[in-house]
Amino acid sequence: MSNVVVMGAQWGDEGKGKIVDLLTRKCDVIVRFQGGNNAGHTVLVGDKQYILHLIPSGILHPGKKCLIGNGVVLDPAVFCREVETLRGKDVDVSPARLMISRKAHVIMPYHKALDVARECHKTNESKIGTTGRGIGPCYEDKMSRIGIRAADLAMPELLRAKIEAALLEKNALLAGLYGGEAMTVDAVFDEVMAVAPRVVPHLADVTAEIEAAWAAGQHVMFEGAQGTHLDIDHGTYPFVTSSNTVSGNAAAGSGIAPTRLDRIVAIVKAYTTRVGAGPFPTEQLNEAGDYLQQKGHEFGATTGRKRRCGWLDAVVLREAVRLNGPTDIALTKLDVLSGLKELQICTAYGYQGGTITVAPQEQNGMAHVTPVYETMPGWDDDITGCTTWESLPAPTRAYIARIEELTGVRVSLVSVGPERDQTISRGW
Ligand code: GDP
Ligand code: IMO
Ligand code: MG
Repeated sequence: MSNVVVMGAQWGDEGKGKIVDLLTRKCDVIVRFQGGNNAGHTVLVGDKQYILHLIPSGILHPGKKCLIGNGVVLDPAVFCREVETLRGKDVDVSPARLMISRKAHVIMPYHKALDVARECHKTNESKIGTTGRGIGPCYEDKMSRIGIRAADLAMPELLRAKIEAALLEKNALLAGLYGGEAMTVDAVFDEVMAVAPRVVPHLADVTAEIEAAWAAGQHVMFEGAQGTHLDIDHGTYPFVTSSNTVSGNAAAGSGIAPTRLDRIVAIVKAYTTRVGAGPFPTEQLNEAGDYLQQKGHEFGATTGRKRRCGWLDAVVLREAVRLNGPTDIALTKLDVLSGLKELQICTAYGYQGGTITVAPQEQNGMAHVTPVYETMPGWDDDITGCTTWESLPAPTRAYIARIEELTGVRVSLVSVGPERDQTISRGW
């Protein structure tokens, strides 16, 4: 299948887990390259549902290697819990097939406490609605060059010294500024060391693992988390996550050259959702939005929060195309649109008295656009059993064709349900 990046084109939860699991059949190694356990990737196999937060969504296929790259932030306790849950379901999670880059940064207890304290102290208008998993504070420490890396878990003396240095600053914030409890070096060290021995056997040189796979003629898939419009640089800043979610980071976040990437698959949900705060031009706070929310079971896979829902936004998609260069689109949750008389697609925005076809770049500019819609006929048919392009109703095919026109990218996978076999391949 060559080397493929799978990434989200909207605000996350596009169905990356399902598509990565599906495409894993055709590759040998799956690498997560950014984000952490803010992600929730759902894979449904028969009547068993798996929600993966840290471990690549290829793990359910025996024999495939799963790697956590240097660009990921890793909560060691969450990693251990996820390993235990999978082991309980008879999934092989041995260090021989599940490896963590020694360069990945570790989410520490003070990162989580700071994430939550900061959100609590923000005004309602400025709250980001983070997942509270310590993602932002961990990436901050990485950039400040005071972070703790996975390799440090095997070096208790170094770990302790780094915790001591970090707490000088963190306690000034946690206790001094936010009025919380100061943390002691002993408590933090003990909490991390309680799980470290279970993480250390998984530490590896991820770049070397990928090189070895290529030397053996194998194919590698790079699994993105979140979505393009949550990207720290290109998303709806400051209502974003703290990593680069775009396809380019697949290389830097796993330690390989960008010239090795052959195919980039943008996952596009057939409508739009967003969890947490921030501008969302096509949000529908009405019956249509409720319909999508209920029919699509749109609840966050990590925090359980209700997802905000709205129409497909082609401006958002075009921006995702320029930023990621997808060779293919995998269109998901098309079945959720069945039963709607008419569908709206946003094709442009009204902004500052004119019309724009790309997202504005001023801070919070997206909060001040007015969507310009075109209307397409809906369909009543239940399409969850469709397995071929020809069996899809004509209005469904027209909707897909319009997405291809508006984005300039071929829709080569169409997903009509959460199960593996509820997928139509168009020459994939
Ligand atoms: P991810 O974060 O991008 O992996 O997406 P999530 O797992 O957070 O959310 C996607 C949800 O939609 C999950 O519950 C999936 O099982 C489900 N899903 C994926 N594809 C389809 C589809 O084509 N139709 C329906 N009805 N559900 C889908
Ligand atoms: P997957 O990989 C949807 C959102 C949060 C919040 C913002 C910042 O499942 O698509 P953070 O905790 O990252 O600092 O929160 O980003 N967010 C996601 N929304 N899907 C995700 O992941 C998300 N990960 C973070 O809701 O608005
Ligand atoms: Mg998700």
